[in-house]
Amino acid sequence: MNAQDFERWTQASLNAFESALDDLVPAGAPAGLGEAMRYAVLGGGKRLRPLLVLASCAAVGGDSFAAMRAACAVELIHAYSLVHDDMPCMDNDVMRRGKPTTHVAFGEAQAMLAGDAMQALAFEVLTPLESEGSGIAPALQARLCSLLARSAGHDGMAGGQAIDLASIGKQLNEATLRDMHRRKTGVLLQASVMMGAACGPASPRATQALSDYGAALGLAFQVVDDILDVTQDSEVLGKTAGKDQDANKPTYVSVLGIHAARTLAQQLRAEAKAALAASGLADVSHLSLLADSVVERDN
Ligand code: IPE
Ligand code: IPE
Ligand code: MG
Ligand code: MG
Ligand code: MG
Repeated sequence: MNAQDFERWTQASLNAFESALDDLVPAGAPAGLGEAMRYAVLGGGKRLRPLLVLASCAAVGGDSFAAMRAACAVELIHAYSLVHDDMPCMDNDVMRRGKPTTHVAFGEAQAMLAGDAMQALAFEVLTPLESEGSGIAPALQARLCSLLARSAGHDGMAGGQAIDLASIGKQLNEATLRDMHRRKTGVLLQASVMMGAACGPASPRATQALSDYGAALGLAFQVVDDILDVTQDSEVLGKTAGKDQDANKPTYVSVLGIHAARTLAQQLRAEAKAALAASGLADVSHLSLLADSVVERDN
């Protein structure tokens, strides 16, 4: 696949994704809650996690309705995590996706509730009612909910965020930092890949390979996030640059230095690609190009 084909696939996937998500996030939720939810999740972000779900589903020849629901669910969890991450009690950020953060636009209580409701909506989206048209087989619903819940909860994103806040002002060693990053960011990206794979008939070998790919790509993503916090402008990032140092957070840049952090990101990309090569899957080109975009991104 050449760069143009990938660009075309990405655009078509994003268009379909934005339209599906727009249909699923209720404008009419009470007392302005729907407005805050839509503000937090629609029209912004790179949408990497949905693209991983869709690319992984395509690689295994899976059910595209289930995969689109999974793509929406994982983005809802991600966007909720950003709303809470930005609140004054956490990272205290005022800009996200190039706009004022949700608590700045709607107040803290509404932002907290929007996050809560987005988390619940993610699981509603994975368990569609018959009246919502084409269904998802009950066993697949359960598998998708399990993958998403485990990646978002105490052993995944929320647990990693707890470690992040408990690590302010500390100099972690690389193993502890890796564990924190894997949990707070890596596992949700890995779960995106596994949810896509769950939508199709993946062999044990392919499933293991995709899991290894997701783990390497997930860690690489947060290593690059740490690098961009130091090297990139707020305008390009769409969020406040230089926050990690200001908040005294241990990061891959503070622990390893920028040069070694960059080298690690390249190594993790190579690991991700090696896993794809070992998958036995016929076409992993989208996943491979997504690994490139994670390491080469500038925002
Ligand atoms: C930012 O994620 C938060 C992290 C997990 C590092 P993204 O960089 O994917 O943010 P959006 O979705 O593009 O806004
Ligand atoms: C956030 O990590 C990870 C989440 C679970 C949201 P960061 O705090 O580094 O994310 P940014 O830099 O604010 O996007
Ligand atoms: Mg944070
Ligand atoms: Mg933050
Ligand atoms: Mg960051």
